[in-house]
Amino acid sequence: MIFEQLKPQVEAITSKKSSVDERLFEICQLLEKHIHYYNWVGFYFRNRNKEELKLGPYVGTPTDHTIIPFGKGICGQVAVSNQNFVVPDVSVQDNYIACSMTVKAEIVIPIFVNGKNIGQIDIDSNTPDPFTEADERFLEFVTQKVSEILQ
Ligand code: SME
Repeated sequence: MIFEQLKPQVEAITSKKSSVDERLFEICQLLEKHIHYYNWVGFYFRNRNKEELKLGPYVGTPTDHTIIPFGKGICGQVAVSNQNFVVPDVSVQDNYIACSMTVKAEIVIPIFVNGKNIGQIDIDSNTPDPFTEADERFLEFVTQKVSEILQ
């Protein structure tokens, strides 16, 4: 199972001495490279004390959505719900922000530091309905490791 092979690689990246942004970027690269249905992988973080998310490191097509207000789109909804959000088919979501016409599905997993939702990992897929609970468990592992370097 690819996820079990990737976990030690995620840990190897998070334990490096490089900057947080470099390590987050390497995680994006790792996931996008090895999981064929992960086509855009990025991090959003709360922008200081504002009610908005700001784009962090990412891999994939550049997006205009570098700032997302809380409540808007899939990402903005996760900022307020504190829950994983798996979207098998983005075309039937009414509160969705399209970044690219090729995207069919999306998964967003929140990142908690000391119990506070401080950001999220966001993945877009060009494959319809590709995500399973195994993706959620794996991405929860990733967000936990990221949380440890943001403490
Ligand atoms: N689709 C997201 C916006 C971010 S892009 O996927 C990079 C959303 O609806 O929040």
